[in-house]
Order: sequence, then structure tokens, then C-alpha cells
Amino acid sequence: MSARIERLITSGTFSLDGGTWDVDNNVWIVGDDAEVYVIDPAHDAAAIAAAVGGRAVKAVLLTHGHDDHIRYARDFATLVNAPVLMNPADQMLWEDIFPGTTPDGTIADGDVFEVAGTQLTALHTPGHSPGSTCFHAPELGTVFTGDTLFNGGPGATGRSYSDFPTIVASIAGRLMTLPPETVVNTGHGDSTTVAAEAPGIAAAQG
Ligand SMILES: [Fe+2]
Repeated sequence: MSARIERLITSGTFSLDGGTWDVDNNVWIVGDDAEVYVIDPAHDAAAIAAAVGGRAVKAVLLTHGHDDHIRYARDFATLVNAPVLMNPADQMLWEDIFPGTTPDGTIADGDVFEVAGTQLTALHTPGHSPGSTCFHAPELGTVFTGDTLFNGGPGATGRSYSDFPTIVASIAGRLMTLPPETVVNTGHGDSTTVAAEAPGIAAAQG
């Protein structure tokens, strides 16, 4: 059976630098009737576990360490008996939520995660955070971008550990080089495509 993509939207808060904001997050489930990866299981571990059903979760893949994306990742992983993986460059963000611990494993640029006959390749795209990572699934014609690229442009870079020139360089070098028809499945809000975002990114490069 070939892989498919399921999306859940969950609601909660995002906190950083002393502020807290209400947010809706996209949770992505990629796999088939037997096995899946879950990208960024935010806010509602029980609802996401219900969506997974009885399927095996090969791992929880985190796009980055911001608290809206990770605060319930440990609870969810326990429910479905899966490891949590993250790029260790976001360890300081992880420790804000889970002091004195690490995720169960690391994600590095070029790592390949295989599920249901399809592959997710990790693309390290720093800028929104140092460890921000996208997951490219060429057979599915999509890339999961977390908070690196949204419908409308780059993710936020106004708070700690973020950098605008770095995120623009990541997007231009690693995402705008994907096939133009590639669907961009984001961490918040609607999906978009590489082609639709290309003019805005070109302008941001100056
Ligand atoms: Fe974020």
C-alpha cells in the first residue's frame, strides 16, 4: 500500500521570550494502514493518538524545538510507544520544556526516514531556529516545512535564536530548488507550493 498524508489541526499556545500567543498547529501523519511517521504532534496527544488508531508509529519527527510543536510530543510518544527525534541544535528549546533531558534520537541533514515505500529526507533549514528541519517526500510531491516556510513567506524570525538572513538563505538554497509543483505542507495555516512562494523569496533575497 502506498503512503498517504493526513492532517490534523490542534489548538493551544506558543510561548517564547516571556510572551504567550494562541495558535493552531498542523499535525502531519505520513504512512499507510500499518505504519506512520507523525510530524509535530502538537497540543492534543489523545486526539492525535486516536487519529493514528492502531498503526505503528515509527517515530515522532520534530521540525524544531518551539514549545507549541514539542510540549505534548513526549505525552504522545508515550501513548503510541514511539521515539521522539529532533535536530540537536534546538536542544536549548527542548530543555525549556523538558529540563535535563534530550529527545530519544537526533535528526541530521540528509537523514532518510522510510515508511510505506516512500521516503522522507531531512533538510536542515536553520533560521526560524538553529535546528529547524524540513522533510522532503519526493514520491508524494511534498515537503513538510514546519515554521520555516508558510503560505505567504518565511516563518517568524523576530524572537530568540532566529535570524532572517539565515532563514531566507535556507529557503532559497534548500526549498526553492525543489520542483516548482512541490506542495509545501506547513506547521501553521494553509498549504502552498514552491512556485507560489518563489517570487516572495526572491524579493526577500534582495
Ligand atoms: Fe516555531
